[in-house]
Amino acid sequence: MKEPPKKARLLVVDDNASLVENLAEILDAAGYAVRGAGTCAAALAHARDGFDVALVDLRLPDGDGTALAPRLKELQPDGEVVLLTGFATLESAVAAVRAGACAYLVKPCATQELLVTVEQAMRQVRLHVEKRDLSRRAQMAEKLAAVGTMTAGLSHEIRNPLNAAALQLSVLERRIQRLAKEAQPPLLEPLTVVKDEIRRLDHILEDFLQFARPREFVTRQVDVAEVVNRVLDLLGAQAERRGVRLERDIEPVPPVAGDDERLRQVLVNLGLNALESVKDGGLVRVSCRPSPGPGPEPAVDVIVDDDGAGVPPESRDRIFEPFFTTKAKGSGLGLSIVHAIITQHAGRLRVEDSPAGGARFVVTLPRLR
Ligand SMILES: Nc1ncnc2c1ncn2[C@@H]1O[C@H](COP(=O)(O)OP(=O)(O)OP(=O)(O)O)[C@@H](O)[C@H]1O
Ligand SMILES: [Mg+2]
Repeated sequence: MKEPPKKARLLVVDDNASLVENLAEILDAAGYAVRGAGTCAAALAHARDGFDVALVDLRLPDGDGTALAPRLKELQPDGEVVLLTGFATLESAVAAVRAGACAYLVKPCATQELLVTVEQAMRQVRLHVEKRDLSRRAQMAEKLAAVGTMTAGLSHEIRNPLNAAALQLSVLERRIQRLAKEAQPPLLEPLTVVKDEIRRLDHILEDFLQFARPREFVTRQVDVAEVVNRVLDLLGAQAERRGVRLERDIEPVPPVAGDDERLRQVLVNLGLNALESVKDGGLVRVSCRPSPGPGPEPAVDVIVDDDGAGVPPESRDRIFEPFFTTKAKGSGLGLSIVHAIITQHAGRLRVEDSPAGGARFVVTLPRLR
């Protein structure tokens, strides 16, 4: 089933209850989600839950509409305010501008005028949102470019000594293996730790390199269900070690056009994040199923749920930025890589609350055409 588009949220603030009811009826019929308030206090309480456009009466029992407007905009910087006045005077127009309102309506207003004004205000709201989104993307692109330049030079310089160290380590390992059996374990143990750490460093460098010179993107027909199954087999041991229940719910899905190696990386990163976010005894569930998709063709949804702490709403915009991390040992690159790969696949990625209690990451991939 296709998700219905989100309704624009309107707030009607007037102490005349029947006027509020009247406006709400008209606006509701026009497809808006409307909430009413009779006082400044009630309006502010509603505004905290978010709104797109507020229609505010100039005179309210506990204050003035012109004073309320800036406070509403403070709570919802992308929102817009339209003032409702009793008279069409120059003073009302000036008051509206001073209060930061985008328009004013004279009561009782004609339905057509009301709808046009609200739609104009909504256009402003959408512009604010787009502008913020654009500047966030520009910032992200800038950061990525900086990472790319830095990486190209650095990773080369780091990789050479790293490879040399790894080579010497295997020489050491071979020499130890020639020693008496009982002398080997205490020497091999620290050696294995160093080897693991070198592998980890190499892995981090590999992540950085994804940004510096993205591999050529070759698409093939990919069975996402199979990729998910393979990754889950891989993550099984990790889940067991952490005492986490790893569930899978996999339905047959249409083929997608993509790079299976990169899609595997997407799932590993999302899976690891989920495993890292839950407590001992926690749950991670990976599902794969056909979905309505962004276009007319059905697509494929891969969903990673966990019962951890979730992603707080204020971080949801930021978690896809390179270097954003809340973990002591995190690089903050995992999700930005996931985002880059999904974009390359013309797919979508979103984060929301999971019915399991924690975070839900949804990857939607368009099907093969
Ligand atoms: N499943 C999740 N539950 C809660 N928070 C999450 C989840 N996945 C990601 N996050 C948040 O997003 C941040 C960024 O994730 P990302 O994968 O990009 O980096 P990281 O996991 O911190 O580091 P790295 O992936 O390099 O180990 C995390 O630090 C965490 O705050
Ligand atoms: Mg991560």
